[in-house]
Amino acid sequence: MRDGRPITLYTLTNSHGLEVKAMTYGAILVSMRVPDRKGEFADIVLGHETPEGYVPNPPYLGALVGRYANRIAGGQFTVDGKQYQLAKNDGPNTLHGGIKGFDKVMWEGEQLKGKAAVAFTYLSKDGEENFPGNLKVKVTYTLNDENELVIDYQATTDKATPINLSQHSYFNLSGEGNGEILNHEVMLNADKFTPVDKNLIPTGELRPVKGTPMDFTTPTKIGARIDDNYDQLVLGHGYDHNFVINRKGAGLELAARVYEPTSGRVLEVLTTQPGVQFYSGNFLDGTVTGKQGHVYKRRYGFCLETQHFPDSPNHPDFPSAILKPGETFLSKTVFKFSTK
Ligand code: GLA
Repeated sequence: MRDGRPITLYTLTNSHGLEVKAMTYGAILVSMRVPDRKGEFADIVLGHETPEGYVPNPPYLGALVGRYANRIAGGQFTVDGKQYQLAKNDGPNTLHGGIKGFDKVMWEGEQLKGKAAVAFTYLSKDGEENFPGNLKVKVTYTLNDENELVIDYQATTDKATPINLSQHSYFNLSGEGNGEILNHEVMLNADKFTPVDKNLIPTGELRPVKGTPMDFTTPTKIGARIDDNYDQLVLGHGYDHNFVINRKGAGLELAARVYEPTSGRVLEVLTTQPGVQFYSGNFLDGTVTGKQGHVYKRRYGFCLETQHFPDSPNHPDFPSAILKPGETFLSKTVFKFSTK
């Protein structure tokens, strides 16, 4: 860091040559090198070649987002009868934990023995960004020989607090910087999504995707309907919505499968979380220059942010995102890479 604090970068590799890099600053996933159908490797996530590039990081490239990923309306919530006001860093809302979210803090890194894994821990102190409770967070990235990057989240607190942890990697399966992601075919295992208002806050409705451009239950190109005159696409400037994952139980469920036809690369996202934010990179605007001098323009990457629903603390009917003392928050997300 410019202020002298060291950053550690960890490299995870597996027996098939896949390679994932992650660093202690922001628990950021810096690169993911995976093969195409011919066996040629490319880095499929947007990012930077130097840590400076990530400070600041307005699009949250590769970041671990928290304490509350996504939006909280008005930056307000009430827990244990007490009202809390967070900083508004996204119009009238709080986005991704406030001014200095988990993407902007230094984590402790620890290489785990006997596997390609690194654990990042962070103590978010009582009152940090105005959230209640000392929250101990641990995020483990493991690369296994099934070509899966497994992300395990764990947290405990000493006061009830909202919690929502997610990974904000932007993918382009043809290789980062290789243009728009509109040709990618996406399948989302979701019959419903949470429509938003003009501030991208859920209205509370769970709307069926059937008959709308939000229907990805069968694989569809991202670009096929993205500019349709549909209220939610207009409000979101494209896709920027939480999808309600069809669940058979509480375990790992397939949330999404994405296929990029020129490279043949496939990304599957599995999770124990109730939702996934499908974000088509609408706010990338060419102001960020990333790896290899690539300029990241509108829709040059997409995110699949597994999560609790946005603004859950203000929607008692959504799955609860409140962690209480004595409980342990546990969640798992898998990014699985293959080719077709
Ligand atoms: C999230 C949000 C988007 C956008 C990005 C960061 O995915 O849903 O609206 O704010 O983060 O640019």
